Amino acid sequence: MSTPPAGPASTLITNIGELSTQNEAEGPENSVLRDAAVVFEGERISWIGVASAAPAADAMIDAGGRCGLPGWVDSHTHLVFAGCRSAEFEARMAGESYAAGGIAVTTDATRSASDYDLTRLLLARAAEAAAGGTTYLETKTGYGLNVEEERRHARIASTVANQVTYLGAHLVPAGADAEEYTDLVCTDMLEAVRPYVQWADVFCEKGAFTEEQSRRVLQACRDAGLGLRVHGNQLGYGAGVRLAVEFGAASVDHVNYLTDDDVAALSGTWTKWNAAGPDAGGTDASGARTPGTVATCLPACDLSTRAPLAPARKLLDAGVQVALASNCNPGTSFTSSMNFCVATAVLQMGLTVSEAVRAATFGGALALRAHTGEDRDGKRAVGSLAVGHRADLQLLNAPSAAHLAYRPGMPLTGAVWRAGQQLGL
Ligand code: NIG
Repeated sequence: MSTPPAGPASTLITNIGELSTQNEAEGPENSVLRDAAVVFEGERISWIGVASAAPAADAMIDAGGRCGLPGWVDSHTHLVFAGCRSAEFEARMAGESYAAGGIAVTTDATRSASDYDLTRLLLARAAEAAAGGTTYLETKTGYGLNVEEERRHARIASTVANQVTYLGAHLVPAGADAEEYTDLVCTDMLEAVRPYVQWADVFCEKGAFTEEQSRRVLQACRDAGLGLRVHGNQLGYGAGVRLAVEFGAASVDHVNYLTDDDVAALSGTWTKWNAAGPDAGGTDASGARTPGTVATCLPACDLSTRAPLAPARKLLDAGVQVALASNCNPGTSFTSSMNFCVATAVLQMGLTVSEAVRAATFGGALALRAHTGEDRDGKRAVGSLAVGHRADLQLLNAPSAAHLAYRPGMPLTGAVWRAGQQLGL
């Protein structure tokens, strides 16, 4: 077999009419460049600026005046599953309310699927997400719910996703004792998944895990060296946000039911970050950057469960950093379309276009602590466009990002580069 020719060492993408860099160092109001260009070298961005000043490169692509954005960072998905729950969805649309019990249906189907089938399904879903502009993806376990299956799902997830979250504490399996199962999540199951995951999560909600059980899970997983996130305040008011703040979790996700105290607690985690200015970030005593707890809003899930939309506007006004994610899963949100999430955030949640784009790029990267060069899989920063960051870029078939909400539902994703490689769409 002959060796394929090496790709160009550098690529110039020029004539970008509007380029939303999300580069914090520029300040939020300066993060849009007009008539811009970007140069990629290998997997990194080597130059960014106005097109007329761009250096020569080995290859050149004319964006034709289209809009450029960082690739979407989807910080909350559940992509390792088999089976379908459209009947449950239809029943919900006919008036049933969402209860977490459907997780057990997916658990049964997923346990029965072979490694080959689960991997094939996961790859197809990741490809679908990439075709929609998602270039960096988190996914979770949580449909295994015993030691062997959680390990298997974590292993399979780690072959595809950029970051993997352990969610053994998704539901107490039918017939299991809740206390004994929580112990298992904190011991043997945790040890089994540990080689494959960076994060741990707990579904802290009535019908899932109590505050006390959630605290045990978070403590054990933190002791094991995992970063933390919490599924919280989805189905009602509760302890999720409180626990996330107490444990310094990187994100609390769903956040549909928030008291003023919850919002204030989240806001408090960002005081230093916000005060230090956009380029510095907050710092702790050792000088390290200290982002707070990101509130991850999941608009597609809110619509699909007919839940009150998460109060993203109120959170932003309180100084909380917000992420938008798809929560792609078979029960509550079977879509990986970040374009849809951005449009919904603008049309229904009161965000401006630039706030929504930021939440779906830099916000997601913050939630995964992948916004700097030291992200958890050892790769370059994602979620913003700057020299040295990973070359993750999408071009929309539109002159500006406003078209994402102005033309909702239209196929606007034009071209996508992930780590400098153009994806075939
Ligand atoms: O994020 N909240 C818990 N987990 C998922 C739902 C999973 C399911 O119903 O299968 C969610 O919405």
